[in-house]
Amino acid sequence: MVDTEDARTLARMLRERRSIRDFSAREVPQELIAAILDDARWAPSWSNTQPYRIAIASGELKDKLKTELLACFDASVQIQRGGLFGKLQALLTRKGLPDGDFDTRFEYPAELTPRRRATGFGLYATLGIAREDAAARHRQMRRNWEFFGAPVVLFVFVRQELGAYSILDGGIFLQSLMLSAQARGLGTCAEGALATWAGPVREAFEVPPAYKLLCGLALGWPSDHVVNTFNPGRAEVAEMLIPVKRG
Ligand SMILES: Cc1cc2nc3c(=O)[nH]c(=O)nc-3n(C[C@H](O)[C@H](O)[C@H](O)COP(=O)(O)O)c2cc1C
Repeated sequence: MVDTEDARTLARMLRERRSIRDFSAREVPQELIAAILDDARWAPSWSNTQPYRIAIASGELKDKLKTELLACFDASVQIQRGGLFGKLQALLTRKGLPDGDFDTRFEYPAELTPRRRATGFGLYATLGIAREDAAARHRQMRRNWEFFGAPVVLFVFVRQELGAYSILDGGIFLQSLMLSAQARGLGTCAEGALATWAGPVREAFEVPPAYKLLCGLALGWPSDHVVNTFNPGRAEVAEMLIPVKRG
């Protein structure tokens, strides 16, 4: 085994990176955001096409997006609570209906459902939220569209023409960005939830139409809130390995 300092540092960073779901109010200097993006641009991509664009919001713009996205979320909750009438009304007004470029609400395959459940329950348990406390779960879910109090929010867009591969490239870019942020003491949370409503984001930025909203990312300084201690762990390597066919 080659046990270099780089290998040890990277192994530690990969294990220590956590999704941060509560941030301090401290601003992130522009130079720091620039440095992280400058690192992330070295992410590999299909034929070096680098098929992504990033929109960044802080300060007033971030607050405006928060207000608008929360309104979308609240309207979607009203639809769910409004029964058939609520659904019909939503179809007429479009208010609260997802308008994202990718579907963020899907049926989980049975095989993956236990992991999803364990992660959700683990998060709520860390927060002291009981399973039957729907109101508290709802409040925590809503925090997604407050960017968990982060001073900066990023939106990652990808071109769709490369199919799964531009999405893959977007993911590699995202992880590069998260690790660079972590190396500088910053915290991040990738937020697929922020791709549910693209309208307010497209209105705020000059997004080229070919670029589709893939994922959001909350960025800032982690607070010492207990939620940031949540570690959902990982399956063992043996569980992901595909055995050779026998016979
Ligand atoms: C593509 C992607 C989308 C995610 N979307 C959300 C999200 O919308 N809200 C959230 O709280 N966490 C989100 N996460 C964070 C995952 O829940 C988290 O990475 C996973 O539970 C593992 O925890 P860890 O990041 O702390 O290791 C997302 C992560 C990824 C990679």
